[in-house]
Amino acid sequence: MIAARPLLTLLLSLLALMGNTAFGALHDVHEGDSIQAAVEAAEPGDTIRVHPGIYRETVYVDKDDITLRGVVEEGEWPTLEGDKQLNDAILYSGNGFTVEWFKITHYKGNAIMGQAGNNFSIRNNWIIDTGVYGIFPEFGENGLIENNVLSGIEDAAIYVGMCDYIDVRNNHVFENVAGIEIENSRHALVEGNIARDNTGGILVFITPGLPIKTSYDAIVRRNTVINNNTPNFAIPGSLVSTIPAGTGIIVNSGDDVVIEDNIITGNNTAGIIVTSQDFATGVAGDPASDPNPDRVQILDNVMFNNGNDPATDVKALMLTQFSTTGPDILAYKGAAEAERESCVSRKSAYRTFGLEEWGDCTSPTVRAADAVGSAPALAGTTRDVTTKMLPEPATPRVITVDANGAKLVYQGICAGCHTYNIRMIGPPVMAIKAQYGEDASAIASYIAAPEKKRPDFPTMPPQDHLSEAMRLEVAKYMLTLNK
Ligand code: HEC
Repeated sequence: MIAARPLLTLLLSLLALMGNTAFGALHDVHEGDSIQAAVEAAEPGDTIRVHPGIYRETVYVDKDDITLRGVVEEGEWPTLEGDKQLNDAILYSGNGFTVEWFKITHYKGNAIMGQAGNNFSIRNNWIIDTGVYGIFPEFGENGLIENNVLSGIEDAAIYVGMCDYIDVRNNHVFENVAGIEIENSRHALVEGNIARDNTGGILVFITPGLPIKTSYDAIVRRNTVINNNTPNFAIPGSLVSTIPAGTGIIVNSGDDVVIEDNIITGNNTAGIIVTSQDFATGVAGDPASDPNPDRVQILDNVMFNNGNDPATDVKALMLTQFSTTGPDILAYKGAAEAERESCVSRKSAYRTFGLEEWGDCTSPTVRAADAVGSAPALAGTTRDVTTKMLPEPATPRVITVDANGAKLVYQGICAGCHTYNIRMIGPPVMAIKAQYGEDASAIASYIAAPEKKRPDFPTMPPQDHLSEAMRLEVAKYMLTLNK
């Protein structure tokens, strides 16, 4: 017993020594150096330590198992500065990528975007006034987004797009259009976040026209969702521009969503809105996606003081109940129907609209959301589900220069801005097909160095980090899409 302690200490220091060799090398980057140059020099398994200072660049990480770690010293952060000129701060397509302790500001596009990389961790970053998306893993499996602070993002601060098995925890998102978005994604835990003073706090939904057609199995738990009343400042015509200011949580067409133990207050339109695709009028649907949210469970949540100044449509609905105050919970049209099998606990505690046909979640017949990596949820609570991440890393994605690789690149990059039939950041694929016909090589050359075409769209960021052969493959792939 007495010898055990020193032995353990020895073992630990041996492990730490091995750390530098067996677990990868360290590369130090100081102000004036290029982070990208360190990435180029790194091998899979290496860590790049970035010291305080200003760095004006876009960092691409296409290798596996790279860690980008900022060093914060006496309140000085390593800062990626886009000067409103650069498009993206960090783009990764490698698997096993970790990025932490960076300040990122003034980029036009994304702060941190994942492009089909699996097994990622994005932690402890501070992201301010940065373009369209803040943290945006697209088409990734098994990832963690925690302890980040994000504000001033024109679309979604944290945008989990077409991903599976993701935890989003303890982030603070404020003064964005959308705080946290779980979109066309499966198996997500959104827990312990603060979403305040956005247009909409937390969203779980299906965007029509994306290659992944479903969004299901999400737990939204123990978040503080407060005063999300900021006027919508998204690019007009974009999907998020349809979010009414004053929305706490919105579930649009997502299935098997559990909302539990949140504090939801001060949201002027409604605390929680559950709706079908028809909530956003003027947006085309997707015949391959179910437009209705099924099996939504609203368990215990603390809700008060919501609906003080509802958006016009919701106000009109409430007037039919002789009230001018928005509800704590609103089930809109199709979402209200009994066949959706949605339920609410302690319904009488809340001011509601459209919940007449909803069941009672405490009844034993309620189906529990399926859990990953832990025991199945009890009916009526998800508290025994600790994570939605996988117990073992997901198989790394390998991007080959052929039709298979092109599909991954399309889903990991292009689908971040293009859907088949509706306007997102870029024009719909339908319109692009009409314009280009079969001419894949013209698309391949456009995307290498896009010029400004449409007055009401931003300029598309160049995709010259893709090889010429890959650009052609992905252009051909785009032209095969038909939904
Ligand atoms: C960050 C968002 C974004 C990403 C990612 C993106 N695009 Fe675009 N794309 C746009 C925008 C915005 C436009 C419209 C630009 C304009 O009209 O000036 C556009 C336009 C286009 C056009 C039409 C060009 C024309 O002549 O009118 C094509 C083709 C295209 N994108 C292909 C792609 C492909 C292929 C990918 C993936 C490799 C991709 N885009 C990734 C935003 C994006």
